[in-house]
This record gives sequence, C-alpha cells and structure tokens, in this order.
Amino acid sequence: MLKGKKIVVAITGSIAAYKIPLLVRLLIKNGAEVQVIMTPVAADFVTPLTLSTLSLRPVIIDPFKSGTGEWNNHVELGQWADAMVFAPVTANTLGKMAHGIADNFLITAYLSAKCPVFIAPAMDLDMFAHPSTQNNIRLLESFGNIIIEPQTGELASGLTGLGRLEEPDKILQIITEHFIHLQVLAKKKILITAGPTYEKIDPVRFIGNFSTGTMGFALAHEAAHRGANVTLISGPTHLKVNHPGIHRVDVESAEDMLLQCRSFGPDSDVIIMAAAVADYSAANQHTTKLKKNSSSLNLELKPTVDILRELGTHKKANQLLVGFALETDNELENAKQKLKSKNLDYIVLNSLKDEGAGFGFTTNKITIIDNQGIVIESSLKTKQEIACDILDVIV
Ligand code: CTP
Repeated sequence: MLKGKKIVVAITGSIAAYKIPLLVRLLIKNGAEVQVIMTPVAADFVTPLTLSTLSLRPVIIDPFKSGTGEWNNHVELGQWADAMVFAPVTANTLGKMAHGIADNFLITAYLSAKCPVFIAPAMDLDMFAHPSTQNNIRLLESFGNIIIEPQTGELASGLTGLGRLEEPDKILQIITEHFIHLQVLAKKKILITAGPTYEKIDPVRFIGNFSTGTMGFALAHEAAHRGANVTLISGPTHLKVNHPGIHRVDVESAEDMLLQCRSFGPDSDVIIMAAAVADYSAANQHTTKLKKNSSSLNLELKPTVDILRELGTHKKANQLLVGFALETDNELENAKQKLKSKNLDYIVLNSLKDEGAGFGFTTNKITIIDNQGIVIESSLKTKQEIACDILDVIV
C-alpha cells in the first residue's frame, strides 16, 4: 500500500523509541522509502546503526555533517517527504513543535514539512494529562497535524495509565489508511455549506441562529483530507480553514449563500448542505437604525429560497446531494419527508432531543437516511468522527 511513498520517521528521547525499529521495518516491508531523523537524546535510547540498517539510509541527527562544513538540508527533506511521522514524541518536543522552537534538526524538519504530519506522543500519565501538554497537542491539531493518540497501559515508570506509544502495527495502519483516504476522493469536486446565515434587519441587527459551522468545517477538512477539491461556502463564523484543498467562500445572508451555490453547484460531484440557512429574512431592510419608539415592534418577514430544494430540482444524474435536518419532534418522519421532497440522496438527521448533539456542541449524534431507510445510526461522537462517518457513506 505504501509503494514509493517517502516517509520521514522522526524519533525523540522517550523509552518508547525502542519500538521504532519495528515501525521502520514495517514501513519498508510495505514499500515505503524511509528517512529516519532523531534528536541527540533519542540516540541514547535506540541506536542509529539499527535504524540506518533497517531504513537503508544514514540517520540524520545533527544540523551539520561533522567535520565537513556541510549541512543536512531540512528544507529539502520537507520537499521530499510524502508524510512525516513523529514517534515517540516527548512533552518537551511537543512544546517545541507547538511553538516553533527550532533548536535541533528534527524541529527544523517539522517546520519545513509540506506534507501530512503524524504525531504520536508518549510519556508518563501525569505529564500527558498536564494542561500544558494537552494545550500543545490541541495547538498542533489546529495546525492540521494528525495526532496518534497514546494508549492506556503499563508505563516505563511502573505506573499504569494513558501515555503508552501506540503500537507500530497500528501506526502503520493509520498511515496506510491516510494514503488510501487521500486517493479515494481525488479529482472529486465537493461543495459544502456551513454555519449560520445573518439576515439584516437594520445596520446593527440581524436574524440569525446558534450554528457555529463546526460540522460543515469538519466535513470540509475530512473531504479535503481524502483528496477532494472542496469549496466551502461559509456563513459568519470564527472557524478557520487549514487545508490547501479547501477553497473558502464567505457569505452573510441566505441570499448570498444561494448565489454562491448557484455558481458552484452545477459543477460539483457532491453537495453537502450543512449550513443552517434562515427560512425567512426581513421584508424590508432598514437603512437606518430602528428606534424603540413604540411599546411593541412587528417585523415583516419574507421566505428565503430553499437552496437545497433548488439544488435538488436541478440535480444531475451523477450528482450526489446530501441535506441535513435538525428536528425536535417526529424526527425520522420529518427527515424522510425532507429527503423525498427535496430530491436528496441522503439526509443527515440531528435530533435536539439527543444531549450533546446539534448547535454549539463539539459532539454530535446522527442518523443518515436514504431512500431505502436508515443507513447509519451513530453514537455520540466528536464532529470530526461524525464527518468521517458521513464521508464513508458518500464514498
Ligand atoms: N436549507 C436550505 N435553504 C433554506 C433552508 C434550509 O438549503 N432556505 C437546507 C439546510 O441547509 C438543510 C436542509 O435544508 O440541509 C433542512 O433544513 P431544516 O432547517 O432542517 O429544514 P427546513 O427545510 O428549513 O424545514 P423546517 O425549518 O420547517 O424544519
């Protein structure tokens, strides 16, 4: 599965480094080219000779080739690699990676990476649980790095808890699946909408909703991660895109979103309408601020265009259309009705009766339905995991 893939294996000074020769062996056996790099302390835990023998290349430890006046080119390594796997990563190196402290060759290589980066932390349970370590991990994740979570078990200290390096065969599986994912949606154009819409009432007020855009952004990142060419049309949100495969278009109102969907929709292979689009907008937008000069205020609203319904009406034979339904009662019935009336291939149902699901949560619980009935009923998971489930169905 990894034939011809160029992989940097980066080792830091943790006792779990003893497992890495096996990882290198597995990568080579699966057809990868491997360049091992290490921190100087890592070389105290596992010998460079073992690693260079297994990887068929000299191991790089220092920024300079001793006595030659030459340097080891971290920039070239960044261009060369199809993936970098940092394993095991100590709390110290996590901190340096998160904050760009490039005081050894390994960190300069990390900062030069242009490819997916996998990070497998390993340390004692209390060090791993420390807020500083956790903050650094979340920061690295926000850069788009893939964290290979440590496991629970017996640790080198003799204690038992969370902090054990993931096993080499599992790390291999994660890397392999990543490359399979990369190919699976290659050349596919996917249009995803996310977030709320704001319908202006006057220059300072709007009608909106509690959507944060998290689900749509998670879908966009997962689709891009699987090789798709993603256009993300987003309503107002503080969320950021950190994948080069995503073209982001910011909009404010349902009308703006409609126009962008009309522009990108016809050319898309898959359309996922995750945005919480307003059903009504103000019939008259006031150009000056409304004054509170009466005891009550009536706002006249007019319906917006149902974007999903319009996309469904013009759906092409080879296009896949996915809608969302946020329901509070008669959930399944309402979702099936929307699936049919909007001519969808799938509808993703969120029930507000499920605790931890819907707007404002980092988690979600969904049911995916197609014309035949229920395809998937998920448990409560992170929105990233839910995005994987939805894309697995689409794939
Ligand atoms: N949707 C849309 N355009 C609108 C309103 C909704 O494209 N003007 C899309 C949403 O993005 C979602 C799906 O329609 O994918 C269902 O949205 P939802 O609010 O659950 O249902 P509605 O069709 O708006 O019906 P209701 O609000 O009455 O439940």
